[in-house]
Amino acid sequence: MELTGKVAVVTGGNSGIGKAIVLALAAKGATIVIDWVADEQATEALEDQVRALGDQVIGVEADVSKVTDLERLVASAVTAFGRVDVMVNNAGIETRTSVLDTTEAQYDRVLAINLKSAFFGTQLAARQMIAQGGGGRIINVTSVHEDWPMPGNTAYCVSKGGMRMLTRTAGVELAAHGILVVGVGPGAVATPINASTLGDPAALAKLNAAIPLGRMAQPEEIGSVVAFLASDAASYLAATTIFADGGLMQSSPGL
Ligand code: BGC
Repeated sequence: MELTGKVAVVTGGNSGIGKAIVLALAAKGATIVIDWVADEQATEALEDQVRALGDQVIGVEADVSKVTDLERLVASAVTAFGRVDVMVNNAGIETRTSVLDTTEAQYDRVLAINLKSAFFGTQLAARQMIAQGGGGRIINVTSVHEDWPMPGNTAYCVSKGGMRMLTRTAGVELAAHGILVVGVGPGAVATPINASTLGDPAALAKLNAAIPLGRMAQPEEIGSVVAFLASDAASYLAATTIFADGGLMQSSPGL
């Protein structure tokens, strides 16, 4: 299989888009390291699903907003499987608060989980990839909001905008080592992060109407893009973002 022998680490890997990424990479034969912070049972169930696909897997409880936890995450992958070939910086949260009333604590948490984790996840994975001879993929799960304003979600947009420049700049720096840094920018995806919209029929109808494809994505539709980016078929993609948004960014400004 395409990713047989490759070791992939997925942050925030036991739910939402992260879970779909784990399953998409495992379906192509990758060995999987699932980072998680909550819901051990969900992690164990997902590990069983990966094993049922014939792949090796470990789960690592690590809060990727802390560099020491990220170091332990990467070290655990190396201890268990000897290397890291694919690092997916996927963990993310949003507060949906206006710039007028976002607190310092909310700002710090969003920036730490979304952007700081991706920065140091990139750094630590790249150091490991260079130590093992170079080559590898670093895939940052950003958002249409790396570029497109979302009023009422400013800290989130700031973090995703930062991930855009992380992807571009680290992508240029690391290309010399054969490490391809690429972003995936999802639009609206049916995951826990969008629970409030999914539970509000009027808000959901408004969102669906703004999406040219007329519906939210299923997480698997993002997982498949990440699996492509981890594969040899994506060998000439570097320092850029692929948007998987059903056309959303091209439709109406803001929602
Ligand atoms: C956000 C969602 C939003 C979607 C489309 C995502 O990045 O997490 O809250 O619905 O973008 O705007």
